[in-house]
Amino acid sequence: MPDPAARNPFTPTFGSSPELLVGRDDILEAFTRGLDEGPGSPTRALLLSGQRGVGKTALLNAIEDRAQTLGWLTIAETALEGLIGRLVTDHLPALLRAHDPRSVTRLLDGVTAPGGIGGASFTVRDRHPRTPSLRSQLTDLTEILAPHRTGVLITVDEVWPGSAVELRELATVVQHLFREARPVAVVMAGLPENVDALLNAEAITFLRRAHHAILGAVTRTEARAALDVPVTAAGRRFTADALDAAVDATRGYPYMIQLIGYHAFAVHREGAVTLDAVERARHRALGEVGRMVHRPALRLLSAKELEFVRAMAVDDGPSRTSDIAARMDRSPAYVGQYRRRLLAKHIISAPAHGLVDLPMPGIRDYLRLDPEATEAGYTGFW
Ligand SMILES: Nc1ncnc2c1ncn2[C@@H]1O[C@H](COP(=O)(O)OP(=O)(O)OP(=O)(O)O)[C@@H](O)[C@H]1O
Ligand SMILES: [Mg+2]
Repeated sequence: MPDPAARNPFTPTFGSSPELLVGRDDILEAFTRGLDEGPGSPTRALLLSGQRGVGKTALLNAIEDRAQTLGWLTIAETALEGLIGRLVTDHLPALLRAHDPRSVTRLLDGVTAPGGIGGASFTVRDRHPRTPSLRSQLTDLTEILAPHRTGVLITVDEVWPGSAVELRELATVVQHLFREARPVAVVMAGLPENVDALLNAEAITFLRRAHHAILGAVTRTEARAALDVPVTAAGRRFTADALDAAVDATRGYPYMIQLIGYHAFAVHREGAVTLDAVERARHRALGEVGRMVHRPALRLLSAKELEFVRAMAVDDGPSRTSDIAARMDRSPAYVGQYRRRLLAKHIISAPAHGLVDLPMPGIRDYLRLDPEATEAGYTGFW
């Protein structure tokens, strides 16, 4: 019997882990192998990049879960200012307190015996007091963990050029620990343009050597599973035509999978999820992707860059650069500079010589729907 009050099994919010995470098995398995193989494995330094809503945070969460299953300790952080400070004064002391057997004796420091017999304090003065640094704390922690064949994983989400100095500091320390064959792993994630900027930044050679996974569209089969399995688990089902339409509407974009699934599931409280429900869901989902993803991205464009993408939105598929030049009434050389800038911002892609495309699902419709908006690549979506 279907439960009429079945909880909606979809999670159309950024940063939330989906009920079924699809299309990321290869990365997860390579990472897990890296932890098994021991220090020196290339996937112990992993860099994830991809467009908004492609599933970077969801994958980081899954990676942390895998690591924890293998007994690893995990620290999940964001590249906001003060990252190193939070590691040194917050995460690492907490993990050391919890896992260092010697910390028990340290806790006796300063204990005063009751009954007025005089206080017994076990404080031992260190002749060479050491201010704990990121490197020393990670060294201590990995020394405790290594005999158990586990280690510590640090994930850093939302990396951006403003965090370059702190990421460099973290990378330098991790590189030392790698050389000393200590069990540490680091995974960083960010938007493509931010990751590109960091890779080009001086002295982050470590990141350049990291294994770089570019997250893109999931396959049709994977999108189908991500829609169908949670609905079935909730005691309902898609009609065959509804599932086909829902799969098509996602174009392999994970955020869209969750939006389509969520809204289609919500149209009726019980029974089959119908084609009509999927159609209604598609409209709502496109509106939300527009508001949450396209509008903020387009707002960062200059007037000319926006004019370029609007000229592209006239076409139903990839545009010829020469047509764009004609529509903008400019020379190919002139529009070429905007083409380059938009490619660097990952707003457009270049599927073939002389062609440009708008890879984000639904951005074409959004540009057409909203021609008066003044707000001044996600590769491979089908
Ligand atoms: N592999 C996946 N399979 C199914 N759903 C997914 C998958 N990855 C992410 N999602 C869903 O897609 C949405 C976006 O995921 P997430 O927040 O991880 O994206 P993101 O890349 O971190 O975005 P942002 O750049 O805004 O931080 C969420 O609703 C999440 O549940
Ligand atoms: Mg995220």
